[in-house]
Amino acid sequence: MATGTADFVVIANRLPVDRVTAPNGDTLWRTSPGGLVTALEPVMKSNGGAWIGWHGAADEKVKPFDHNGMHLVPVPLSNDEVEEYYEGFSNATLWPLYHDVVAPPEFHREWWDAYVRVNRRFAEKAATVANEGAVVWVQDYQLQLVPTMLRELRPDLRIGFFLHIPFPPTELFQQLPWRREILEGLLGADLVGFQMPGAAQNFVRLVRQRVGHKTHRDMIYLPDGRTVLAKAYPISIDAAGFEELARTPEVIARAAEIRESLGNPRTILLGIDRLDYTKGLRQRLRAFGELISEGSVHVDDAVFVQVATPSRERVQQYKLLRDDINRLVGRINGDVGRIGQQPVTYLHASYPRQEMAALYRAADVMVVTPLRDGMNLVAKEYVACRYDDQGALVLSEFAGAASELKSAYQVNPHDINGMKSMMLAAINASPRENGRRMKAMRKQVMENDIELWANNFLEELTSDRELHEKNPRP
Ligand code: G6P
Repeated sequence: MATGTADFVVIANRLPVDRVTAPNGDTLWRTSPGGLVTALEPVMKSNGGAWIGWHGAADEKVKPFDHNGMHLVPVPLSNDEVEEYYEGFSNATLWPLYHDVVAPPEFHREWWDAYVRVNRRFAEKAATVANEGAVVWVQDYQLQLVPTMLRELRPDLRIGFFLHIPFPPTELFQQLPWRREILEGLLGADLVGFQMPGAAQNFVRLVRQRVGHKTHRDMIYLPDGRTVLAKAYPISIDAAGFEELARTPEVIARAAEIRESLGNPRTILLGIDRLDYTKGLRQRLRAFGELISEGSVHVDDAVFVQVATPSRERVQQYKLLRDDINRLVGRINGDVGRIGQQPVTYLHASYPRQEMAALYRAADVMVVTPLRDGMNLVAKEYVACRYDDQGALVLSEFAGAASELKSAYQVNPHDINGMKSMMLAAINASPRENGRRMKAMRKQVMENDIELWANNFLEELTSDRELHEKNPRP
């Protein structure tokens, strides 16, 4: 196969841009706010990099184009493929299965067929874009078959894979009818990265048990002599970028305005999440509602602002969740609210980074209570914005971030009483106590940013593998 020109290729389900329509009707592309693109943009620019991904619309072909020094290569999906590969297999099979089956995963053979077909399309596209010996970095659960498909087409490439979500315990993973195919798909990579060391261990154990390859610690030995390394690389955020934004006069003024419009209560609690059943929205709102109805917190003193960003809206479980949260918010406000005093302000919308930074600055208590989460970057963004060393973070122990943010008020989101007492402790903490906790968390977040994460992964991926063979082959 003829090779392309890019020395560095990122493959992700989505391109790092959003399409916007200018006032004159022109179509423009705007870099999406995610941290991944912030970290990879410089690497892409200096390496003639290309990014392969879906542009977000069904049944539409878009030609490759350049944007901010990056070459973007759109992959088309038909309407059926959006339903079967994206909404179906990715988000109604893998997503719930990998998040501790907090919603029941659905297994459908047609969805699997579409997943295989679309993964092959991404791999074929990458094979034509990558230069001889290029470094290719495949992202996330939507594309787990790409590493092996791509290696078969282009054995000259250095291939890395990073899973942004949890990798499940072996007992859950075994439910998947296509478990062996997924493991074999991932083994096409030279380096498979996970958020947590436990996830890497789950993967290595499954490869040993299900595929029968020899393993030693984090190294997998394939029969053809190739090795695959499975290791944790906890992802982070553009921490300095968030702090800088939070320090701007516009954000500071907006934070004051937000407090004012909420009636300047003593305490503002805040949740910001994609509207997803893994995020523990129901549990946290119930806990807050009970604190008010029991009188532990007075309705005049506290407001809970919950921003839920619309997400995967055609997937059944997401529709059910949306109705569920609408009802719950209505019930809490109806039961414990007063005229002019709504205990929960609920916003089903997405906001630009600047508005998020203002919300973080305005919030006394940030509440992040997922039932399972690969990392949770909202928790880290809150910490990065609190350069005043104030504010308190209530954080689920089931978020990857909990192993780094040890000074958060950690909770088990299934334990409503436990969560109530931690929320109360955070509400009533002294500035001194908050300062102590926030300083420790800031040290962690500011020192371990997304740039370091990307550098660590790429350094390992491009290093001479002999170095890792210090462990003798079993
Ligand atoms: C999670 C996943 C990403 C995904 C994002 C938004 O963070 O790990 O791969 O892009 O959610 O979800 P969406 O389905 O809109 O791409």
